[in-house]
Amino acid sequence: MLSISVKKFLFWKKQQLCKGGDYHSFTFLLDCVGGIKTSDLNLMSINPEGYLYLKKNLEFLESVWDDHLIKNYPIQYLCGISFWRDLKLQVTNKVLIPRSETELIVDIVFNIFRDKSQKIFFAELGTGSGAISIALAKAYPLSDGIATDIDEGALEIATKNYINSSKRSNLKFFCGNWWSPLESFKGELDLAISNPPYIPKDTYEKLPKEVKNFEPKIALLGGEDGLKHIREIIQKAPLFLKDKGWLILENHFDQGEKVKQLLLKNKFTSIEIVNDLSGIGRFTIGRYK
Ligand SMILES: C[S@@+](CC[C@H](N)C(=O)[O-])C[C@H]1O[C@@H](n2cnc3c(N)ncnc32)[C@H](O)[C@@H]1O
Repeated sequence: MLSISVKKFLFWKKQQLCKGGDYHSFTFLLDCVGGIKTSDLNLMSINPEGYLYLKKNLEFLESVWDDHLIKNYPIQYLCGISFWRDLKLQVTNKVLIPRSETELIVDIVFNIFRDKSQKIFFAELGTGSGAISIALAKAYPLSDGIATDIDEGALEIATKNYINSSKRSNLKFFCGNWWSPLESFKGELDLAISNPPYIPKDTYEKLPKEVKNFEPKIALLGGEDGLKHIREIIQKAPLFLKDKGWLILENHFDQGEKVKQLLLKNKFTSIEIVNDLSGIGRFTIGRYK
């Protein structure tokens, strides 16, 4: 730990914020890399004569901040950490930074499976950092979950995140294309969830730099119309779900109606488009017969 005067630190902090960027990203960096909690930051200006302790020196913190500002490097990748629901997850550029809007997918599950002591068998297709599966495996301790991804590197991160977040072993990880790792579980799932890559090609080309240049293309691009993967997931879902099993999908802001039609065409019932907190039809859910 390095000791530094609060006065010097506050002066440096002001200089960094004058360069640009948002306050939230800056406090994220100070917390995750510098070891300074945001609540402590607020107290500092009351006692500027004191000293504080940093995990890294100001030069190092400044170089990370500059990388973020100049190269549009996402602060979560630079810090190697992302907070999602109550989880602190490790992230590298092998995995999508889990989005806050996706947090709601867990609440949708809570609404369907209200009894947390239930033993459900669920699968998440395209787990990335493992966020969704880990949250579910922890919330339903008697459940069994399978988290899959096509990318070995992503699964490595997801596995580490699970080990760091839970003492249980009710979540297994498998590598492969969508349903293929689940061949031996046909007709057994109570629930399948996926936040697949759903960005249409044209939109992908125009994504902000901080997304397009750093986040994995394989996690974002959903083919020409964005629905390539969603189509494949829906078409094969009936083979893997139990009778009355649920499928929950995240989709792009304007895909809800199309996903609903795909579910209808594949004999799903109880179909619903669920809004995110901004009122966007972000999730489409259905039950197989
Ligand atoms: C939008 S990200 C979602 C990650 C994570 N579930 C989340 O919500 O933050 C999509 C994930 O699907 C994975 N993926 C892409 N194509 C796949 C495929 N054909 N089969 C299985 N997983 C795939 C990507 O590697 C990526 O981790």
